[in-house]
Amino acid sequence: MNTIDKLLGRMTVAEKLGQMTMTSASYAVTGPVIAGDSTESIRNGTLGNLLNLVGAKHVHEMQRIAVDESRLGIPLMIGFDVIHGHRTIFPVPLGEAATFEPRLWELTAREAARETAADGLAMTFAPMLDVSRDLRWGRTVEGPGEDPWLAVQIARAKVRGFQGADLAQADSVAATAKHFCAYGPVMGGRDYASVDISERTLREVHLPAFAAAVDAGVASIMPAFTELGGIPLTMHKALLRDYLRGELGFDGVIVSDYNAIRELIHHGVAGDIVEAATLALKAGVDIDMMAEAYRHGLPVALERGLVTIAEIDECVLRVLRLKERLGLFDDPYRRGSTAEAAEAIAARRRLAREAATKSLVLAKNSGGTLPLRKDLRRVCVIGPLATAWREMRGPWAAAGYEEPSITVLAGLRSALPSAEIVHAEGTAISGTDTSGIAAAAELVADSDAVVLCLGEAAEMSGEAASRSSPELPGEQRALVEAVLDRAARAKVPVVVVLFSGRPLIVSRLMERADAVLIAWFPGTEAGNAIADVLTGRASPSGRTPVTWPRALGQIPIFYSQRNSGRPENPQDHFTSKYLDLPNTPLLPFGFGLSYGRFSYANLTVSPESARASDTIEVAVEVTNQGARAAEETVFLFIRDRVASVARPLLELKGFTKISLGAGETGTARLRLPVEELRFLGLDFEPVLEPGDVEIHVGPCADPAQLLSSRVLLRV
Ligand code: NOJ
Repeated sequence: MNTIDKLLGRMTVAEKLGQMTMTSASYAVTGPVIAGDSTESIRNGTLGNLLNLVGAKHVHEMQRIAVDESRLGIPLMIGFDVIHGHRTIFPVPLGEAATFEPRLWELTAREAARETAADGLAMTFAPMLDVSRDLRWGRTVEGPGEDPWLAVQIARAKVRGFQGADLAQADSVAATAKHFCAYGPVMGGRDYASVDISERTLREVHLPAFAAAVDAGVASIMPAFTELGGIPLTMHKALLRDYLRGELGFDGVIVSDYNAIRELIHHGVAGDIVEAATLALKAGVDIDMMAEAYRHGLPVALERGLVTIAEIDECVLRVLRLKERLGLFDDPYRRGSTAEAAEAIAARRRLAREAATKSLVLAKNSGGTLPLRKDLRRVCVIGPLATAWREMRGPWAAAGYEEPSITVLAGLRSALPSAEIVHAEGTAISGTDTSGIAAAAELVADSDAVVLCLGEAAEMSGEAASRSSPELPGEQRALVEAVLDRAARAKVPVVVVLFSGRPLIVSRLMERADAVLIAWFPGTEAGNAIADVLTGRASPSGRTPVTWPRALGQIPIFYSQRNSGRPENPQDHFTSKYLDLPNTPLLPFGFGLSYGRFSYANLTVSPESARASDTIEVAVEVTNQGARAAEETVFLFIRDRVASVARPLLELKGFTKISLGAGETGTARLRLPVEELRFLGLDFEPVLEPGDVEIHVGPCADPAQLLSSRVLLRV
């Protein structure tokens, strides 16, 4: 018998339920229920896990009570939401996705893990892997965007980054893949609402990233708050037990979401806390976060014979094993015991700047407005987001340093030391006050360029932050019109820097502004990164991981839709289209300009006829016809035009980057294992079907910009 089993043998039911409970220490408030003082429960061994406590001193103090004062001395596991950096804030996850750089995805998670561990913590509730195709849903900001294949790459990188080579390392933390699963398609884009999707969409779009996280060894998984076709995920036996544990072989910890077990009562599947706890336990949820359902409900359920002690033991063992893997039994104080070197902190800050710079997506740049000329005399920085340092961090920056993030105004002032930089807010992010607009617009007249900083407040995206009209909030549209009118008269170019946690409905802005830089929320180094791009110190290289619609009525809009039996044809009335709008988006998935100008030629695919075990080598010549060095992201899509199940118009299967000087030509190479061409057949089993598969390569998911070839599958 190993030590964990022996320990289990010595535990009372109350102590077991304590290991299956996680309550908040209320350092940060991330849900509607605030727990009271947990100290006594830790001392008497009836509380084994905490969330929302930070700071090595506090963590060690709590750990000391658990280890020295509780009967069995079992260390605590303490988790925190480290969504895009812990103290140093990196771009929001949607912005990070836009970097299309797996190295960065992993590195930022590694650095975030270091900071988290330095605070004494051993667990994080990240990465968030929910594919989102409805921009009304505020949690779009936390995830990988619209594409399942991209979500898989991010899942792998993030799990590796957080967990490091060994979970027991003093700078590793247990990652939690969340929210399992299909949380994104909430009805009406309203957070926490019902989800009702097809089995195929579930399996093709929403499960792959979780399967990838399990494959990468993720320590923990959090079921979504939501229900799927009437079955809340927190009690979803078929998905938690049969799929996750059975099919995927996941043997880590399942931690409920905040109060989610109690919410089974609101969902209407449990009459009281006893039934709620029973349902969650039966589905295999190991830890009850904040509902107090296990501690209060399971003793009654045991008495009534609704659950068995063996079912409880299974969960306790999984929790204890995770604590063991985290090295908590060996040394509960290993995390947070050594101060970080100044150089490590400085390097992290550089990484934050690099990630922020690479997350910026240049959506428009007419007439080479950007980069700004170095000899500008007077630049006018207008808008409510120009000096809003807190907003730069985006949502979920709970433990971010109190030290202000760099604002756009500060970044530009340090990047353009000889220019006069004037500033006016014009109007607030939200609200109805228009009194500052006229004066702000007047500043434009005598300037060489206007940088207009617009968008959402950080809290307008994230959890419980759905928006029915995701346009520029408040009176910002009035500000835009006034500034653009004045600038047009004075012939001053207007560059818009747009902050948001989701695509916004900004067709008119996109039409009228000279240049538009999508900044998402870039984090601690926001202003420096933006100034680097605006002044040409860096060429923008971010690509949007979500399609931007022209109008809200187009959603859900995503590049990998299916063809329909009546594909859009403007000449034919009875085809799939709108009467009042084209089907095409404002910005396609993958779109983003740089300061280069790239053309593609000579797409080659080898071998042209392939078997299941082959890897197809795809190569394309890319030329930078622009006047500046820049980096291009090259995408590889496939289309299986005839298959037993209708396949999407395009499916992402690869991307790579190539840096080219002005006038330079290079070859971008991508590898496509034939295995990647498998899809779920009529019976949902993965199949590889013989015949042609189209290969499309280019700068984004706009079919008009892609070069095409094909490969013949002989399987
Ligand atoms: C609720 C959120 O849905 C989840 O993502 C988060 O990890 C928990 N609260 C804990 O803060």
